[in-house]
Amino acid sequence: MTDKNTQIPGNAQADSPRKKKLLDRHGALERNATLLLVSSFLVVTIGGIVEIAPLFWLENTIEDVEGVRPYSPLEMAGREIYIREGCYVCHSQMIRPMRDEVERYGHYSLAAESKYDHPFLWGSKRTGPDLARVGGRYSDEWHVDHLVDPQSVVPESIMPKYDYLLRKTIDGEHIDELLATNAFVGVPYTDEMIEVAQADFRVQTDPFGDIDGLLERYPGAQVRNFDGQEALTEMDALIAYLQILGTMVDFSTFTADATR
Ligand code: HEC
Repeated sequence: MTDKNTQIPGNAQADSPRKKKLLDRHGALERNATLLLVSSFLVVTIGGIVEIAPLFWLENTIEDVEGVRPYSPLEMAGREIYIREGCYVCHSQMIRPMRDEVERYGHYSLAAESKYDHPFLWGSKRTGPDLARVGGRYSDEWHVDHLVDPQSVVPESIMPKYDYLLRKTIDGEHIDELLATNAFVGVPYTDEMIEVAQADFRVQTDPFGDIDGLLERYPGAQVRNFDGQEALTEMDALIAYLQILGTMVDFSTFTADATR
């Protein structure tokens, strides 16, 4: 064995005076807990300011986008069912700006599109496809068939059956409270919207009802019997939610403005 090989790697330069000096100085930090804490705090503060501060001055941190509105009461109820059933475990709602994603799912997701989502449902895993723009891609009937028995429309699907949603009727009993809670965390629901939430909830599945107020409060809300049954069920709410996903922004007129 040569000399070189018997040296301990970490010690190889221990004799270099420059290195020794530097390490000695670091020793002061290692031996003095207060000094270490103060120095760590300084380093983290400077790093934090450099990373975070620009966001306060960049106007396009969350670019305001035309068309994005709070969910209607029925869509909101559907969103709750989506969360309760754990759909987000298998489905993301976030299209990344990469070519394969944009070609498959459509325009990449904008921050503004989920600005009223509490909590957001971007998800972290795709067992099934991304759903950020699934609204309008399939008919209501397709959704009913697919949710009742996914394998009946996609034989190789591993998605579970959600047939019981067709049997669970809902009347929007606590929907005003849900809207109020969202208003509390910053979603611009007005007092009026909260007050008439239960009526808005029911009228969205009734095309012959008095829907003018609903459409004024929630422009573009889709009004129809979503599950084809007479009763208002959880299936109605979930499909109302799925059909609005990704449809609020009109991408034929939208141009990203990253230069502001
Ligand atoms: C165990 C994972 C899993 C769960 C949980 C799950 N899905 Fe799926 N989903 C899939 C898979 C896999 C597919 C692709 C095959 C198919 O279309 O069935 C899919 C497809 C879909 C599609 C069609 C998307 C498209 O673009 O073709 C929709 C809509 C959908 N799921 C909605 C839901 C909803 C709503 C829930 C919750 C009630 C849910 N999924 C729960 C796995 C899941």
